[in-house]
Amino acid sequence: MSKSIKLAILGLGTVGTGVVNLINDNLSELKRRSGRDIIITEVGTRRQRDDIDPSIVQNDDLMAIAASDNVDIVIEVIGGTTLAKDIIMHAIKNGKHVVTANKALLAEHGNEIFALAEAHHVHVAYEAAVAGGIPIIKVMREALAANKIDWLAGIINGTGNFIMTEMRDKGRPFKDVLTEAQELGYAEADPTFDVEGIDAAHKLALLASIAFGIPLQFDKVYCEGITGITLQDVNYAEELGYRIKHLGFAVRRNSEDEQQDSAGIELRVHPTLIPQDALLANVNGVKNAVLVNSHPLGQTLYCGDGAGAGATASAVMADVMDLVRVLGNHDDSEHSHHVPHLAFMPEELSDTPVLRAEQMITGYYLRVHAYDNPGVLADITRILSDAGINIDAILQKPAHKLGQVPVIILTLPVVESQMNLAIEKIERLTAVTDKVVRIRLDELAQ
Ligand code: HSE
Repeated sequence: MSKSIKLAILGLGTVGTGVVNLINDNLSELKRRSGRDIIITEVGTRRQRDDIDPSIVQNDDLMAIAASDNVDIVIEVIGGTTLAKDIIMHAIKNGKHVVTANKALLAEHGNEIFALAEAHHVHVAYEAAVAGGIPIIKVMREALAANKIDWLAGIINGTGNFIMTEMRDKGRPFKDVLTEAQELGYAEADPTFDVEGIDAAHKLALLASIAFGIPLQFDKVYCEGITGITLQDVNYAEELGYRIKHLGFAVRRNSEDEQQDSAGIELRVHPTLIPQDALLANVNGVKNAVLVNSHPLGQTLYCGDGAGAGATASAVMADVMDLVRVLGNHDDSEHSHHVPHLAFMPEELSDTPVLRAEQMITGYYLRVHAYDNPGVLADITRILSDAGINIDAILQKPAHKLGQVPVIILTLPVVESQMNLAIEKIERLTAVTDKVVRIRLDELAQ
């Protein structure tokens, strides 16, 4: 067997430990598949661990590991966007290939990191950064390389999906389920990233760049989390034949599309009502799923565990295996044939704009609380029809506290700015007692 490939693992948390375990469990498979010996030479950890093979150097100086002659591939699984960035930039400058699960870092600084990697002829591989164990980066960059991608929709945060599933199926309180997700190693170090949609927005930024060949633009992703979702809305949605899922959407809009006056790309993550029989509506627990609509292939769905040690380690090691093959090839001309970081040639990235929230088009679930007076429903529906908003379904519950009724309205797709104006008018009606609750509804993800 030719020269061994030497790995450094920076960070021995859930994912780092998962990678060590995977290598120990599947070493003979890894060798048979790559034709190379794969060894961990160094690990970066703040405190000495006695469960690590004594032949592996443990070091708390991560910058030193990133430049070590005893390392070919640096696996960064410490997370965060400051130290991790310095380490990755240092590793690249020292000619190391990098594998990372760090979606926050790539979504926010990926343009700079990938440019540096191109300049130094190394790769920064990041399958583990999106949708855990699902090989969605490889699929979109390689298997769909001949297609034009029109849109994608996905459940891309395992913690959020786990929470929504447990709340709906078992009526469990939000906080309890989140604590369990943390214990199971699903949640981010700061779980607000999961429940406020930030983690999903990081992943969506990466997916959208690969789908459309645009630079990373995390700051332009519209982002709403699941903390405002109540059991009441979950149940009303179910009654109307819908399920609330936290989804990310990347949609290419053309100026000739109905209601759309300018071409651009919608990047949005938010709770979404989708029909109960839609495939994505039945992806539960920690599972992630990404539905991609491309031409000429049509719709394809990719599903699997989106978080946790085993799933993430699987994606990390798939990248390592790809790099092992690159490292086996010392011919530079071959090197340049490697798939570009964002799927398109860096000089070919497009400047198609990301649309503002007010320009986005979705259907809506509205919950309006109003006094049970004659004509209130007529006033609400008139405001909607005056704004050109088409009502798809309506549900009025019997009056409860103090003679107020919840009115639930589902609408067909409408430009957000129009819906904003209509909601402002509805909230000004004297019979309307509370802020209107709105949740987007999308029929794309059927
Ligand atoms: N916290 C993330 C999730 C981990 O729950 O999906 C995987 O990226």
